[in-house]
Amino acid sequence: MIKIAPSILAADFLRLGEQVKAAEVSGVDRFHLDVMDGCFVPNISFGAPVIKAMRRTTTFPLETHLMIVHPEQYLETFAEAGSDTLIVHQETSPHLHRTVQKIKALGKKAGVAINPSTPSILLDEMIEDLDLVLVMTVNPGFGGQHFIESTLRKIRTLREWLDRRNSKCELEVDGGIESHTALKVVQAGARVLVAGTAVFGHPGGPRLGVESLMQAISCYDRSP
Ligand code: DX5
Ligand code: ZN
Repeated sequence: MIKIAPSILAADFLRLGEQVKAAEVSGVDRFHLDVMDGCFVPNISFGAPVIKAMRRTTTFPLETHLMIVHPEQYLETFAEAGSDTLIVHQETSPHLHRTVQKIKALGKKAGVAINPSTPSILLDEMIEDLDLVLVMTVNPGFGGQHFIESTLRKIRTLREWLDRRNSKCELEVDGGIESHTALKVVQAGARVLVAGTAVFGHPGGPRLGVESLMQAISCYDRSP
């Protein structure tokens, strides 16, 4: 079963509650919250107050994607704000093992993201400890960018590793996921799709946005 995680980065923040409800009824699995610091990535988004507001708005799981330097210093803050999963970047975490253990000690699921230029081998020693691997399919920092095709190879490699190890770790992709790219990433092995523009930027609204993504991957779901 393929899961959809709408990224609220592309939502209308003045109507966030309403847009989240519209996405909920279309069968999404969780919401994806993009925290950017203007340092690790060249953009600033939002922080803990928005995660808190989301926590009051929805009972669906919340995953917080920390595109920030020194994420280990903010784990408690984002855990207390209401995140269920905390995703840190491999590139910002020289002591990744320690950071992941800290997330788990907070009672949260641990995810690690890798940029398009980061090889999957850098997660080899960590896979067993992770609940989620997030393959960035754009360079992080902005919504609405074009999917980078060369990331498909990395998704395939990680899928093989996870299957070989019989791992329950989720393989998620983030960036440029819309109707034309969704089936490609699913066929490569992704099982959770983050989508911002395709959901909240859909002219028919978030519900139709999710439905058209689901439609795009439905032929995969039906295959044995
Ligand atoms: C990009 C963020 C993404 C972003 C995806 O740095 O991590 O989660 O919201 O947006 P779309 O789906 O528009 O590419
Ligand atoms: Zn993200």
